[in-house]
Amino acid sequence: MSLWDQRYAEPGFAYGREPNEFLVHAVSHIIGLGQRRGAALCLAEGEGRNALFLASLGFEVTAVDSSSVGLAKANSLAKERGLSLHTVVADLAEFVVAPGHFALIVSIWCHLPGSLRASVHSACVRGLCPGGAFVLEAYTPAQLAFQTGGPRDLGLLMSLDELRGELQGLEWVHGVEIEREVHEGVFHHGKSSVVQVVARAPCGAQ
Ligand SMILES: C[S@@+](CC[C@H](N)C(=O)[O-])C[C@H]1O[C@@H](n2cnc3c(N)ncnc32)[C@H](O)[C@@H]1O
Repeated sequence: MSLWDQRYAEPGFAYGREPNEFLVHAVSHIIGLGQRRGAALCLAEGEGRNALFLASLGFEVTAVDSSSVGLAKANSLAKERGLSLHTVVADLAEFVVAPGHFALIVSIWCHLPGSLRASVHSACVRGLCPGGAFVLEAYTPAQLAFQTGGPRDLGLLMSLDELRGELQGLEWVHGVEIEREVHEGVFHHGKSSVVQVVARAPCGAQ
C-alpha cells in the first residue's frame, strides 16, 4: 500500500470534504468571464472534494490519482451526494490528457518531481479546448519554513517563474506567489506560502 493509500485509509477526509478555497474563487471568476461548463479534469484529486464541487456546478468531471483508496472515497462521496464522477486510478507519468478536450483543468496540491511536472503541464496546455481554463494552487519553496503542510522535499515545490515556463501558450488571468492561511482537514493548517494560477487557452479564430 502506498503512503497516499495509507493516508486515505484513515477515517475521515485528509483534506476535508470542502473544496479548496482558491478553486472556489477561481471558478466563480472564470464562470463570470463566460466559461462554459464542459469537461473538467482534476489532477491528483485524492478523495474528490474538488472534483465533486465542480460536478455540483454542472461540469463533467474526470478525477485522476494514483491512489485507488482515495478515489474509492471520492466515488462514495459522489454517491452520497448524488453526483456523477469519472475516476481514473493512474500515475500521472502514464496518464494521457486528451488533446483539446477540457474546458477546465484543475491542479490543487499536485506536487510532482520537476521533470514530470513540466511534461504534465505541457499536456495540460494541449488538453484545454479553446478558451478553456487551467487552475492551480501549490506550495512554493518558501513553504519549507512554515511547516503547516505540503511536501518537505524542495524538488516537489514550485515557483511562479517555473510555472510560467511550463504553461507557455496560455493567457494569464492570475499568477501570484502569496502567503495565506490554509485550513483543510488535518494536514493543511496555518499560514502558508502558495503559488496560484488561473490561465486560459486562447479562444482562437471566431
Ligand atoms: C496533497 S494530496 C491533494 C489531493 C487533492 N488534490 C486535494 O486537494 O484534496 C496530493 C495527491 O497527489 C497524488 N499523487 C502524487 N503523485 C502522483 C502521481 N505521480 N500520479 C498521480 N497522483 C499522484 C496523491 O495520491 C495525492 O492524492
